[in-house]
Amino acid sequence: MDIESTLISKYNKAVPRYTSYPTVPHWQSKVPTQNEWLQAMKKAYDDAPGISLYIHLPFCEALCTYCGCNKRITKNHGVEQPYIDAVLKEWSIYRAQFDTKPLIKELHLGGGTPTFFSPSELERLLSSILDDCIIDPDHEFSFEAHPNSTNRDHLSSLYDLGFRRISIGVQDVSPEILKAINRQQTCEEVRDLTQWSREIGYTSVNYDIIYGLPFQKPINVSDTAEFIAEMKPDRIAFYSYAHVPWKSASQRAFTIDDVPSGKSKSELYELGRRLLEAEGYEAIGMDHFCLTEEALNQSYKAGKMHRNFMGYTSNYTKCCIALGASSIGDSWDMYVQNEKHVETYQEVVNEGRLPIVKGHQLTATEMNMRKHILNLMCKDKTSWPSISKDAIAIAPFLPNLDEMVEDGLVRYEHNTIEISDKGKYFIRNICASIDPIFQNTKSENPMFSKAI
Ligand SMILES: C[S@@+](CC[C@H](N)C(=O)[O-])C[C@H]1O[C@@H](n2cnc3c(N)ncnc32)[C@H](O)[C@@H]1O
Ligand code: SF4
Repeated sequence: MDIESTLISKYNKAVPRYTSYPTVPHWQSKVPTQNEWLQAMKKAYDDAPGISLYIHLPFCEALCTYCGCNKRITKNHGVEQPYIDAVLKEWSIYRAQFDTKPLIKELHLGGGTPTFFSPSELERLLSSILDDCIIDPDHEFSFEAHPNSTNRDHLSSLYDLGFRRISIGVQDVSPEILKAINRQQTCEEVRDLTQWSREIGYTSVNYDIIYGLPFQKPINVSDTAEFIAEMKPDRIAFYSYAHVPWKSASQRAFTIDDVPSGKSKSELYELGRRLLEAEGYEAIGMDHFCLTEEALNQSYKAGKMHRNFMGYTSNYTKCCIALGASSIGDSWDMYVQNEKHVETYQEVVNEGRLPIVKGHQLTATEMNMRKHILNLMCKDKTSWPSISKDAIAIAPFLPNLDEMVEDGLVRYEHNTIEISDKGKYFIRNICASIDPIFQNTKSENPMFSKAI
């Protein structure tokens, strides 16, 4: 597959990444109250028992200048204990909503850098929560590991708590790129982490890698692919570098000339994709590559893959509870986001309140639309009955697909939209083209990263 330059210039627009629908910039201004959210969360749990728990651990020792995540840079490890205390206090508010031990299906530690925390603090956090829950026999527990701060004790402690998936932040292996983005790590650290994970018994190792990083050239992508061929992680998240300098001040260190864009960026993607496929990885959904036997690949092929704030998952849970600064909870019909500022987050929680600062109550039409966006993101296809509310909601935007049909990105017939192989690269554009909220909202300010 070769992505033509004309398509790249045509579709290289700022569009959402759809980790939620509606996406955060399109949430309403009215913030749900604590009671409204707790009721929505509990109803979601009662409808389909099982919790996906996300815990945001925001600290990192050094700032990677390309980073777009919510993080706090510090070398002071004195922050660990008060932060964990606050997260446990926040959890106690949720726990009080359940008369009996709730069922945990999925648990993800994200950041920031979860392994900034010592193994003993992580153990204190997780055993306090998990000892008072029922853990689903098919649970999926995963965490994000920075190679520079993760040691063997982290791996063993988390394994003993039920973690079987590790996601390692690799990004690129070339020393000059790592230096340019101030990413302090070595290939040896990634190699050790991968090997220890396998020795200890982790069943899935994911690498996060990025194309389009500042100064990145094809040789850097091929060196990274060569390293991958040697280490054979089970899964790869091959992210497009999101250049969002209005949100991430450290990205202002790069000028637009430093950052590959348009054709030069898509060439990095094409090269990476070709090399990964030659190693037996299969592209699934947006950004992801998996070995054939990987669980996520199996669930994709069975049409069961799901996407939530934690990314792609093979577990569908209606009730997503999120703890920690900036994290986002989801009850299927309501989203809430926590305060981002660490000290304010802790203060509010220590007063016994949930630190909700944003949220959105989905309308029935939005919930329907969310289903179609998720279908496109997870199954490459969606359809609806000809006489239905869905048909009425989508109809005004269908002409937006005409050009994409002509360009061979999608097929549209009999109320079914199906994304072609070529179209998978433009999945965000395809979703945006039928998204009523995106189409009807015009903003002077930048909101989203470019599609390519
Ligand atoms: C919270 S970090 C992972 C954990 C740990 N802090 C680390 O860096 O290894 C999550 C992932 O987001 C991705 N990421 C961060 N900033 C990004 C950006 N501007 N564009 C694309 N991906 C980005 C990186 O691949 C990173 O591994
Ligand atoms: S990429 Fe990871 S380690 Fe680097 S600043 Fe962002 S969250 Fe922290």
